[in-house]
Amino acid sequence: MQTITLIYGDGIGKEVIASAKAIVEASGAPVEWEVQEAGAEAAEKYGKPIDDAVLESISRNGVALKGPTATPIGKGFRSVNVEIRKRLDLYVNLRPLRSFEGVKSLYQNIDLTIVRENTEGLYIGIEKQVDEGRAEATKVITKKASDRIVKYAFDYAKDMGKKKVTAIHKANIMKLTDGLFLNCAREIAKGYPDIAFNDKIIDAACMDLALNPYAYDVLVAPNLYGDIISDLGSALVGGLGVAPGANIGEHAAVFEAVHGSAPDIAGKDLANPTSAILSSAMMLKHLGMKEEGQRIEDAVAACFAAGQMTGELGGSLGCKAFTKAIIDKMV
Ligand code: NAI
Repeated sequence: MQTITLIYGDGIGKEVIASAKAIVEASGAPVEWEVQEAGAEAAEKYGKPIDDAVLESISRNGVALKGPTATPIGKGFRSVNVEIRKRLDLYVNLRPLRSFEGVKSLYQNIDLTIVRENTEGLYIGIEKQVDEGRAEATKVITKKASDRIVKYAFDYAKDMGKKKVTAIHKANIMKLTDGLFLNCAREIAKGYPDIAFNDKIIDAACMDLALNPYAYDVLVAPNLYGDIISDLGSALVGGLGVAPGANIGEHAAVFEAVHGSAPDIAGKDLANPTSAILSSAMMLKHLGMKEEGQRIEDAVAACFAAGQMTGELGGSLGCKAFTKAIIDKMV
């Protein structure tokens, strides 16, 4: 029996995580839950958005399913997501993107995965106001972090039967930082002769992704570029509502919906739980429960193909009715 730390989070988190939990249970996966609180509501109750006990729980169990969390504004708290990522060294941000028959999207038959480096690049938060008219930011790229993210991308490709890895960079301009990332990628690629490798400059990759996404399979990118192409990629397959995500490290992994807490629709049974559900399916696959994870993905796909979906995708179902429709497809 695998214990999973369960964080409902804020706003629609309660609805989408309850949905994902019910579906994981219906899949027959041998899991039990350890509920922990984090986010703006937790901050109201306990004085901080995330307590060490939550991080200890994730560390102990090695895995968490998390809903969106809001950060209390103006109180000096770091975002829950940044805190979890930093404290547990979750260096991979994984975003598989697939289109579903029945869901309106720019392209059909998309199946690509973005592997984003999560710990360095331009996101280390070192900025300096030199004078009134000048500000500077520091970008850090290391061999250690580049090697491990590219290695993760190739191992993922191998494990999931993917054919190609593309490294995204801007090494023609940032010769030292992105140049280092690209060199690391080229070296690591030599260890995976069965998987094709190429590289693409970020701006060209954006145009290509919009015009011919079928040219890509697994993309690996430093932090900022990974952030940008993740949302671009989501737009290709029907938006953030259907895109799952995970933050993964050596010792722990957190699977979560990629959208926010949507306070405008919270508590109204209007939330689309697909992102959380597909994240939970990814989680099961990550835990080696591939059959159960696949069963969930197949049930989601079958619902969409039958026109069963929530309102914001053009359907007529609420969060609860959509959840029931998926469970019905699994029995
Ligand atoms: P949001 O993603 O919560 O909402 C943007 C729009 O999309 C809203 O109109 C919302 O109703 C809609 N929407 C989002 N998810 C939906 C779903 N599953 N089904 C149907 N409609 C959905 O983004 P926003 O408004 O910028 O952020 C709200 C809060 O969420 C903020 O406090 C933000 O910090 C937090 N947030 C948390 C994230 C996380 O924990 N991973 C990620 C993004 C935002």
